[in-house]
Amino acid sequence: MKKTLAIACDHGGYELKAAIKAKFPEIEWKDLGCDSTESVDYPDYAAKMIDAIETGSVEQGILICGTGIGISIAANRSSKIRAALCTDTTMARLTRQHNDANVLALGARITGVEAAFDIVDIFVKTEFEGGRHERRIAKMS
Ligand code: RB5
Repeated sequence: MKKTLAIACDHGGYELKAAIKAKFPEIEWKDLGCDSTESVDYPDYAAKMIDAIETGSVEQGILICGTGIGISIAANRSSKIRAALCTDTTMARLTRQHNDANVLALGARITGVEAAFDIVDIFVKTEFEGGRHERRIAKMS
């Protein structure tokens, strides 16, 4: 079965969003915008991701802005989101295994395209380990 992920970005992340969608055609993408490099406000696109996760339309998503910082801060205002800004594959693996991160945040001005592809690949393939990590996650909700 195809895995479904939401993906959203601001203008700083638009090109990387397009590249990720093209690189992973096996994933069904729910593209929440933005749709060009014209300047927009990243909290508006974090809000779209919050809505997609809170309504159960998707279980996981990817958010991209210039640094990945602003959009992850905004997304993490929802108690249903555990957005992890990852700059390498170790962070992507561990945030799935230990934090059960449901949103991957990327910084398009920080992380190169090939590295971003590897991070996405690991994020979508890695399962949550559960066990002691369940208790820690429960303390955040
Ligand atoms: C937009 O210029 C930039 O501020 C945004 O993409 C992001 O890096 C914010 O954290």
